[in-house]
Amino acid sequence: MSVVDEIKSRLDIVETVSSYAALKKSGRYLKALCPFHTEKTPSFIVSPERQSWRCFGACATGGDVLSFVSRAERLDFGETVRLLAERAGIEISGRSNTESGKPIYTINRLAARFYVDALEQTEGRRALDYLAERGVSEKARKRFELGFSPRKTDALKSHLLALGIPEDEAVRAGVLHRDDDGWTRDFFRGRLMFPIHDRRGRVAGFGARAIDDSNPKYLNTPATAVFDKRSTLYALHLAGESIRSEQRGVIVEGYMDAIAAHQFGYTNVVASMGTALTERQVNRLKPMAPNFVLALDPDDAGQEATLRSLESAWRQIGRRRSAMMGSSVGVLHQREPTSIAIAALPDGRDPDDLIRNDPREWERLTSTAAPLLDFLIPVLAARFDVSAGQGKAQALEAVAPLIAAAEPIEQDAYIDKLAAAIDADKRAVKANIETALRRGAARAERPADTRPASNIGAASLGARPGNSLEAYALSLLLRRPELRNQIGGFSPEYFHQSEHRELFTRWLSCPTIDELRSVLDEPLRQRVEELLESDAFSGDLRESEGALAQCLRRLEQRHLQELQGSILASGEAGTPPPRELRVEIEAVNSRLKELFSKRSI
Ligand code: UTP
Ligand code: MN
Repeated sequence: MSVVDEIKSRLDIVETVSSYAALKKSGRYLKALCPFHTEKTPSFIVSPERQSWRCFGACATGGDVLSFVSRAERLDFGETVRLLAERAGIEISGRSNTESGKPIYTINRLAARFYVDALEQTEGRRALDYLAERGVSEKARKRFELGFSPRKTDALKSHLLALGIPEDEAVRAGVLHRDDDGWTRDFFRGRLMFPIHDRRGRVAGFGARAIDDSNPKYLNTPATAVFDKRSTLYALHLAGESIRSEQRGVIVEGYMDAIAAHQFGYTNVVASMGTALTERQVNRLKPMAPNFVLALDPDDAGQEATLRSLESAWRQIGRRRSAMMGSSVGVLHQREPTSIAIAALPDGRDPDDLIRNDPREWERLTSTAAPLLDFLIPVLAARFDVSAGQGKAQALEAVAPLIAAAEPIEQDAYIDKLAAAIDADKRAVKANIETALRRGAARAERPADTRPASNIGAASLGARPGNSLEAYALSLLLRRPELRNQIGGFSPEYFHQSEHRELFTRWLSCPTIDELRSVLDEPLRQRVEELLESDAFSGDLRESEGALAQCLRRLEQRHLQELQGSILASGEAGTPPPRELRVEIEAVNSRLKELFSKRSI
């Protein structure tokens, strides 16, 4: 049994939820005021039978015991599994994320300690002085575990060898470098050392700043089994709690910027490691809070690469939302959107400088940051020569999909803004956005509509022992990358097992299996291997497409039927359901009708 299954078998949802909400029995369900938002009449129900929960109020979502605790404790999936495993007394064993990485973390920890000690010795004096010059307090230096790497080629090497660490492992950790002739030496020498921690505070790698004018200014740990610059956020282990409690995070570019922020009490700040924000970084942050501010250098604010990455980060955030627009039961699935706002810094000033010398201005900039689209529209428009018709069309084409992915209530304002920026007629802009929207919706609808029903009998789906419909759909998707474009408007919510929902959501943003593996924690990674190995189905592409279409349809149907049941149960006995719920019931009914009629094609 997997850890997740074991957790579910040991923890009862009623018992778990009871410590967060006062449940009252109501037929086959239990009801309570939703623990996730304030309300006067209960819209939160728990089904002991299905071991599931759902809120019909502002949350408009539901799930199993893991997703409940994840929401209640504001933890991501991996953290939830660890917490619950601990609570249920289950040991997380097996090949962990860390098994391949374990010696690396240990070696990095040893190296970090060595560098910290070296900072306080004679040779480290210059680095220590440098930190003082830059205004880094002793407390901040210790909190960030800053250190110094001695100049000698084998300072760390002999330290590690004396501790019995195999050379090869130190090379794998990236702290030693092996030359072509096979000789090893310290990778970092004569530099100020910034250990880079993962979320849990383990040392994943290092950034190392020159304190003279040698190049490069920063040398970082090369990619290792546990370190990848593109998915790392510096200071996340120190900032996570504040980001969660403040419901807001701030992203800066540099190590020094993050250190200054924390030193001056802005503890919700992380650094993007100098690269333009990646989707994987955005993915890490998203579950933690609904609001983020990105502090951008004025240079970067005009730079192609940065803007492109912002667009893609935005698309990533918008994807889930536009996927939902394909489905006719909108309201119930909408989640709090994650928003990113941009604080463009004044010329020649970075967060480090502002925070130290003009904290008021720093606070003003981060609190009045413009939502990404407000920022992007004029910048994107300025890339084209909008005085000519062709330039207008190009600008429209670039911006329309972004507006189409925005919240519907915000779209009008953005249409105005874009029309003004490119000096075009508002109606023309609107028509373009609508085309983009339709295109998105058509993409979402097409697969199920136009593909011939496959001849794979329904009996072959999910009938295999231990092979649920959810697992089956996922194994198809994982094993057949070509099926990706068949996903359309399928919402992660249709997966009721939170491990599957999490896997599916992660998969949406990872183009390849390897990338998926690299962002997953145990035990999800193990689940991926199981799904890849399962011999569920081995038809050709066409058959797989048919099987997937059926699977997805069945999952949506199941979701809607359960939803219907619990919507009805959520009303007061004897009183007609309120208007919003009636509208929902009708929407669910008509979507169900559609799905059932598709089956008979
Ligand atoms: P900055 O040059 O802004 O660095 O690069 P900084 O942290 O503010 O450092 P100071 O103030 O010059 O001392 C931003 C980030 O880009 C990455 C580092 O993560 C750095 O913190 N970077 C920069 C590199 O990885 N390599 C480089 O050579 C330069
Ligand atoms: Mn700087």
